[in-house]
Amino acid sequence: MNRTRNLLHGPASFSFAFLVAALAFGQGVATDGPAALRVCADPDNLPFSDREQQGFENKIAALVAADLGVTVSYFWWPHRRGFLRNTLRARECDVLMGVPQDMDAFITTRPYYRSAYQFVTRVDRDLDISSLDDPRLRELKIGVNMIGYEYNNSPAARALGARGVVGLIGFPTFYNEENRPSGIIDAVAEGNVDVAIVWGPLAGYFAKQQDVPLALAPLPDVDVRTRTPFAFGFAVGVRKSEKALLARIQEALDRKRGEIERVLGEYGVPLAASERAMQPDGGQAAGTKTEAAPGTDGGSRIAEAPPDKLLASTDEYQGWKWFHVYCFRCHGIDALGSDLAPNLRNSVSSEGLVTHDVFLQTVREGRPEKGMQSWKELLDDSQIEQLYLYVKARSDGHLAPGRPHRAQASIK
Ligand code: HEC
Repeated sequence: MNRTRNLLHGPASFSFAFLVAALAFGQGVATDGPAALRVCADPDNLPFSDREQQGFENKIAALVAADLGVTVSYFWWPHRRGFLRNTLRARECDVLMGVPQDMDAFITTRPYYRSAYQFVTRVDRDLDISSLDDPRLRELKIGVNMIGYEYNNSPAARALGARGVVGLIGFPTFYNEENRPSGIIDAVAEGNVDVAIVWGPLAGYFAKQQDVPLALAPLPDVDVRTRTPFAFGFAVGVRKSEKALLARIQEALDRKRGEIERVLGEYGVPLAASERAMQPDGGQAAGTKTEAAPGTDGGSRIAEAPPDKLLASTDEYQGWKWFHVYCFRCHGIDALGSDLAPNLRNSVSSEGLVTHDVFLQTVREGRPEKGMQSWKELLDDSQIEQLYLYVKARSDGHLAPGRPHRAQASIK
């Protein structure tokens, strides 16, 4: 079922986060300076990387290597299941470009860029959509990327679904011969959808290649209503044992900051405002406007306080309550798992096999032969849905362990 490729960046970045979080690295021997910057990268994942080294991550790796006075060498592996196992962990390479911060499986620099999902529309349509609450979204044809074979579990679909906006049009996220990630942007240009919601670097890069001018406007960093995050920072990652290497890369990134921003600009990456955490010594903010296409407003964003990781939507909060009534005694506090039952946060992540539908089905029917009863007498479908939303929020990482509190009144 997980045959799809997960992009390291963007819509699947959370999936990737859990793919890597699920792996633990052994402690290796710290090395001295590298002779070459040995980068693990996807050979066919523009605008991020490709075998011809035409992606912006390739360019940034080259800048870092030049600064360190070494060459870059690549170990190519597609970003899908097994990526880390076969690359960093197998010691085929030492450096991951463009990974999410705060992963368990490796250590990272401060992010060198931060981007957000974008609303993409044709400039000549004059729609100027910049809010998930825009009432016109109910009437418009909206394209979103799918995660796996479903679009319903994409972050945009979730945030719109909470507003009663359904019936979105799904586009594949993964790369193969038929499915190119530019398809969703082509659909906007050709008028097959009115608006698409697309991860920033993909939106900016593919919008630039269209003949008709497309407008980009960022989604909020975090949707207050569903707590869905739409902006993410990306950093360089290395094995946990390679602290010295990481420190050298951080210094190189700091020295090359200006050039890195230029590269990101060339690729049309719309930047979101930097989090304070990424600023060395409270340095200058890197968030800038980026012209992604003619007539495009790259959209500058105002820095926000770090997201409150215990803030839950009403449904997630309810789900947490049910969980702690019915499920925690086997599945563990905070859904971490126990001797009795699996860690459900892994089950619903991209590494696990439990999709939304499998979750509902499993909870309704139970797995009596394995020691879990059926819950359908005790819980109705909306309660099971809330349980799913809670476990998913814990799995995505936007809800931290502990007692959550509820989002303010904004929810029905
Ligand atoms: C009495 C212990 C027990 C309780 C209580 C319990 N479960 Fe389970 N659950 C299990 C066991 C054991 C499994 C593993 C079954 C298997 O190996 O296939 C399981 C499996 C699952 C799975 C499938 C996980 C996977 O990776 O395949 C889901 C989803 C699940 N439980 C949800 C829930 C929810 C939601 C609740 C609360 C309403 C709950 N469970 C309560 C014991 C329990």
